[in-house]
Amino acid sequence: MPKNLKEQAKAILRDNDRGGYTVPTARLYPYQWNWDSVFAALGFATFDRNRAWEEIETLFSGQWDDGMLPHIIFHKTDPDYFPGPELWQSNTVPPTSGHSQPPVAASAILSLMQTGGAMDRARAKALLPKLIGYHRWFHHFRDPDDTGVVGIIHPWESGRDNCPDWDVGMNAIAVPDDLGDLPRRDITHVDPSERPTAEQYNRYLTIVKFGHDCHWDHLEIARNGPFFMVDPCVQFALMRADHDLAQLADEFGAPGIRNEAETWIKRAKAGCSSFWSEEAGGFVAKDLRSGTLSTALTNASAMAFYADAGTDEQRRRLLSEITAILDECVFGFPSWDPRDSRFESRRYWRGPIWSVVNYMIAIGLAEQGHAALSDRLRDDTSRVVEQSGFYEYFDPLTGEGLGGKLFTWTAAIHLAWADKA
Ligand code: DGY
Repeated sequence: MPKNLKEQAKAILRDNDRGGYTVPTARLYPYQWNWDSVFAALGFATFDRNRAWEEIETLFSGQWDDGMLPHIIFHKTDPDYFPGPELWQSNTVPPTSGHSQPPVAASAILSLMQTGGAMDRARAKALLPKLIGYHRWFHHFRDPDDTGVVGIIHPWESGRDNCPDWDVGMNAIAVPDDLGDLPRRDITHVDPSERPTAEQYNRYLTIVKFGHDCHWDHLEIARNGPFFMVDPCVQFALMRADHDLAQLADEFGAPGIRNEAETWIKRAKAGCSSFWSEEAGGFVAKDLRSGTLSTALTNASAMAFYADAGTDEQRRRLLSEITAILDECVFGFPSWDPRDSRFESRRYWRGPIWSVVNYMIAIGLAEQGHAALSDRLRDDTSRVVEQSGFYEYFDPLTGEGLGGKLFTWTAAIHLAWADKA
């Protein structure tokens, strides 16, 4: 492994390349993941623009006929991962999982186009119809009543799998007796104390079972599935992506698409008040079945600036909470408020920090005039990698690297943003 961090990061992207797509990390995640790949493209773009586009194009090769861009694409079977294609039963070619992930593709495509030339423009243009299909899918199937707020049908759709945000929705899931013992593979690759618990996995798989039993009828799942919650990360990523889609529409002379996106954004901005928590001082997850709000702030809450969400007063309050949370940490931004009793500094999305979320939070903060906070997050993201290497996630109190090693998106964000050299 080369000494220079930039060279190391490039080597990680190359080593995790499986031909047209990268795996997030060898063994633990042996397939193509949706938002991982989009961030990987930003990293590739710093040294191989053709390969950057290929990553996104391969991702869209797994798009469903109805427009959904799945969270995992199973390009070739690997028995080392559970739950694999036989559990999801997508009936698609290639086989995929049955739900999506934070929709960050439009934002990356816009960024690649703005920093590139004629080739980038042509490839962005070619992807535009697919992108529109994806956004329409999200608004139609995840917000069937046009509330302006999209739900997620599985904690995995948030990408923030085991965050305490989902505890309320997860606790309401009745695990069927015939689910059986789950042959988990993740805890053979990573210390179980850094991964979701067995109890959580039983509930994850209960949702998957409901999905394949109804042949992934997404309106049925949104209305009657075991889990339907608002995720600030998905909501804010989508608001930002709608905004970026509107800009792409301008570039390619498509005023109809701009209008459509503006309607979504307007509705979404109004909808955000429904998951504001006065107690927590920010936007939090919400169980759409019971109406219950989550109780503490996360790194997803801090993405409000990235989405241009909230009133001036809400933003002021959120900013003071963000500052207080960062005061508790050596490295920001934690995935759960360290002042709360459910904070676990080493367990996945219940405390650790994640480069990709830092990237989105920091862009938003900088755009809204909070340069010092934005710079702090960028410094933290770069320092933690210098200290510990390109891990999947990091302990906010010590900077210890956790989860998978030689991780694609940590390397990609280092190249595209965190490393100022
Ligand atoms: C996993 O397997 O832990 C993934 O996060 C699911 O997407």
